[in-house]
This record gives sequence, structure tokens and C-alpha cells, in this order.
Amino acid sequence: MNRKDIEKNSICLVRGRFGKPDLNRVETEGHAFMVKDVRRRNFFLRWTLGLWLIDKEWKIYSRLKGLKGIPQPVERIDRFAFAMEYIPGKAVGRSEALSASFFLELERVLGEVHSRGVVHMDLRHKGNILVSDKGEPFLIDFNSSFSFRENGILRRFLFPLFQWVDVGGLLKLKERASPNLMAPGELDFLKRFNKLRKLWIFN
Ligand SMILES: Nc1ncnc2c1ncn2[C@@H]1O[C@H](COP(=O)(O)OP(=O)(O)O)[C@@H](O)[C@H]1O
Ligand SMILES: [Mg+2]
Repeated sequence: MNRKDIEKNSICLVRGRFGKPDLNRVETEGHAFMVKDVRRRNFFLRWTLGLWLIDKEWKIYSRLKGLKGIPQPVERIDRFAFAMEYIPGKAVGRSEALSASFFLELERVLGEVHSRGVVHMDLRHKGNILVSDKGEPFLIDFNSSFSFRENGILRRFLFPLFQWVDVGGLLKLKERASPNLMAPGELDFLKRFNKLRKLWIFN
């Protein structure tokens, strides 16, 4: 896939604001792909924030390659864009009631992301979890993520805290999307989580 393919066969689904990427659905050779692209940002943003965001997110998708529940990375088109698998479906917020098994599966996906040393950090956002047409959860948007080296000191001390923030984010989303599915233990966790979150600098 190259620039020409993107320009010819694409529909822009989301126009990125500030330095953020555009999301284009591109069809080539009978397959649909999602392309994140900062090429259309102004010169300054493209070469600074834009380039950094694309590079960082591509590396994280590549690190999560092969996980069920994550769109598969396809190709780095150029330094400003990459392509991934297109997941037909919709964002969690816009779908009907979700089942308990949907959330169990979502927890499994998050657990596997963590086991690769990656934290998501933006799970409270309904747009970052998709329900595929088959009803399966997909985690997307690794713009706010961090990935940690295997044996580094940060992995030991910061990673557990960030994992905990992810779990809290997921439960928050569950509470909003399907409050009736919240187990008593989960409600307790969320109560404590919200108290501590008030002390968190990135609120
Ligand atoms: N691989 C994908 N397949 C299908 N839709 C996607 C995919 N990636 C993103 N989207 C759609 O684009 C929207 C924005 O994508 P996201 O990665 O969250 O970008 P942003 O960084 O701008 O928040 C999502 O809410 C979703 O609707
Ligand atoms: Mg998003």
C-alpha cells in the first residue's frame, strides 16, 4: 500500500484535530484497512507531534501483533502513516446492552496487552473499545499508551500502577455501559479507585 492507494480509495472517517491523525478507511485489492495519517497536518505539527504519535502508536500495535482483540498491524506506509486491519462494528457507547461474556473477553484482551508490557491509559473513552459485527471486543487507540522494557526499573514500579489505572478505566466504562453487570467487588474497587484518582495529577 502506498500514498496513491490512500488518496484514491479512501474515505476519511475522522478528521484529526491539532497534531492528531486522520482516520481513513482504505480499500485495496478487495480488503478494507484503517489508515492513521498525519500527512495533512501543517508542516510544523506533522514533523513534531504528528510524527511522534504515528511512530509511537505503530510500535505499540506491532508489539501487540497476533493478539485476538487488537486490530492487526499491516504496514508502515511512510513516516506519517500506518495501516492496520479494519474492524467492522461500532464503538461501545453506541451499541445495545453488552453481555457479561463481552466484558470477560475484554478483560482477557487487556490482560494480554499487559502481559506484553503495554498499558493503554485511555480506556474510559467509549470510542476506544469497539464491538465487532460478531459481538467481540476490540481495543484500539494506543495514542496515550506506554510500553515498558522487560526488566527496567519503571516496569517494576510504574507499570503496576498504570495497569491498575487501566483496570479502573475499564470498570468505569462497564459501569456506564452496563451498570447491571457490575459485581459487588467491582463496585468496591471503583469506589476506592475514584477516591485515589482525585489525587492523580493527570485528571
Ligand atoms: N482498526 C479500526 N477498525 C475500525 N474502526 C476503527 C479502527 N481504528 C479506529 N477506528 C474508528 O476510528 C475512531 C477513532 O480512532 P482512534 O484510534 O481512537 O483515534 P484517535 O486517536 O483520534 O482517538 C474510533 O472510535 C473508531 O470508530
Ligand atoms: Mg480514540
